[in-house]
Amino acid sequence: MRIILLLFLIVFVVVQSSSSSSSSSSGCPCDSSYLCEPLQIAPRQEFLGFSLNSTQYPNYYWNQLTTLAIFYETIEDELLCIAHENDVRLVWGTTFPIGNLGNSSYIEEWIQGQIEKVQSTFTDGLNFDVESPITDPTIAQQYTELVSATNKAFKAINPFYQISIDVAWSPSCIDKRCYDYAGLASNSDFLVAMDYDERSQVFGEKVCTAGANSSPSNALAGINNFTDLGISTDQLVMGLPWYGYIYKNCLNGDEAGLETVVCEIESVPFRGANCSDAAGSEYDYSYLVQLLQDQTINSSAVQWNTEWQSPYFNYIDPITGNVDQVWFDNPQSLSIKVQLAQKLNLRGVAVWNIDFLDFSDQYNSRPMWDALASFFPQSASSEQSLN
Ligand SMILES: *[C@@H]1O[C@H](CO)[C@@H](O)[C@H](O)[C@H]1NC(C)=O
Ligand SMILES: *[C@@H]1O[C@H](CO)[C@@H](O)[C@H](O)[C@H]1NC(C)=O
Ligand SMILES: *[C@@H]1O[C@H](CO)[C@@H](O)[C@H](O)[C@H]1NC(C)=O
Ligand SMILES: *[C@@H]1O[C@H](CO)[C@@H](O)[C@H](O)[C@H]1NC(C)=O
Ligand SMILES: *[C@@H]1O[C@H](CO)[C@@H](O)[C@H](O)[C@H]1NC(C)=O
Repeated sequence: MRIILLLFLIVFVVVQSSSSSSSSSSGCPCDSSYLCEPLQIAPRQEFLGFSLNSTQYPNYYWNQLTTLAIFYETIEDELLCIAHENDVRLVWGTTFPIGNLGNSSYIEEWIQGQIEKVQSTFTDGLNFDVESPITDPTIAQQYTELVSATNKAFKAINPFYQISIDVAWSPSCIDKRCYDYAGLASNSDFLVAMDYDERSQVFGEKVCTAGANSSPSNALAGINNFTDLGISTDQLVMGLPWYGYIYKNCLNGDEAGLETVVCEIESVPFRGANCSDAAGSEYDYSYLVQLLQDQTINSSAVQWNTEWQSPYFNYIDPITGNVDQVWFDNPQSLSIKVQLAQKLNLRGVAVWNIDFLDFSDQYNSRPMWDALASFFPQSASSEQSLN
């Protein structure tokens, strides 16, 4: 008995020291080396946050996120440890220069580079954010092959690595992105449908007008068209905006002033459409809240457009004196879409981007977060844990 115990102790000590030495030699920044292993978690419902700010992470409600997609160059050591402690995957947002899609040696090196990046940072995979126009089916096929080769290479190393793909809100060649969506879905873990920037191309308007960034009816139409291609709802994540658009200087604003409902805007063509949201500019939610609260600015109350189920307001630009129109999302409009995602049994929800809230302003930021997290039926508020 003693000998067995002794043997056990020796084995234990050897295992412990070898794992800690391997972690220090490979640079694991966390106290426990297991936090530097890719998360071994089976497919689950997702709350994915796209992150653009490397210092905001201490403010997230970590027990509700499932994946954080990083769109900056280096991560703080602490971020990795916090994420893995909370069973949150860290994946690198990545793009690919599509001019090289036909170059197999370039692709091979690129995939190797991505693997090295993920392994050396102890992270969990990739989020493809290719948004270039592709109208040639051969090139679309090559993009699918890139994703497939990347997915296979990662899964061969660790089947729990996650590969996800950001796609437009509908498969119907939005912004000339005529990708092979069914192929992308079947060669990855899931697609994130970007249910925003829905007015990037507006066809058939005699006069260009401002409108909603993210309407539930478009989200539904897009998802239906994805599933018509044979893509399972379990492979679709609904991407939602924590930002809106300001359309400056409504051309018809002078007479109607703050009562303006339809704001006429300049024609700014985009990829073959005469009217586009490129006539406006994107602003994060925290900025728009400040704008609404600014006592020195003459703004209308927040209005509700029933067709697009989206809020908007007008204000008088203090410098130009012109009427500007703002289309955005608030907890009410986000909740409608999250409920739709739930009803359709989607894989999850995502947000562009998670750093667009002012977390020091809990009164305004918490309901935005809770609207996304309400995708999980068991978590009624950001207080509760998912686990
Ligand atoms: C990133 O977040 C920090 C902390 O909230 C903030 O101070 C900083 O201004 C942000 N940086 C950018 C570029 O938005
Ligand atoms: C293919 O990519 C490699 C780099 O990986 C480069 O050296 C080569 O010139 C490229 N070939 C073509 C035809 O662009
Ligand atoms: C969905 O597909 C139908 C049939 O191809 C098409 O007419 C419709 O415009 C598509 N809807 C969207 C939102 O792309
Ligand atoms: C705000 O603008 C409207 C015109 O749209 C005007 O009638 C109203 O007097 C203005 N209010 C203030 C406080 O400037
Ligand atoms: C864009 O506007 C031009 C000029 O009015 C018109 O000839 C053309 O048909 C329009 N294109 C689209 C896609 O509506």
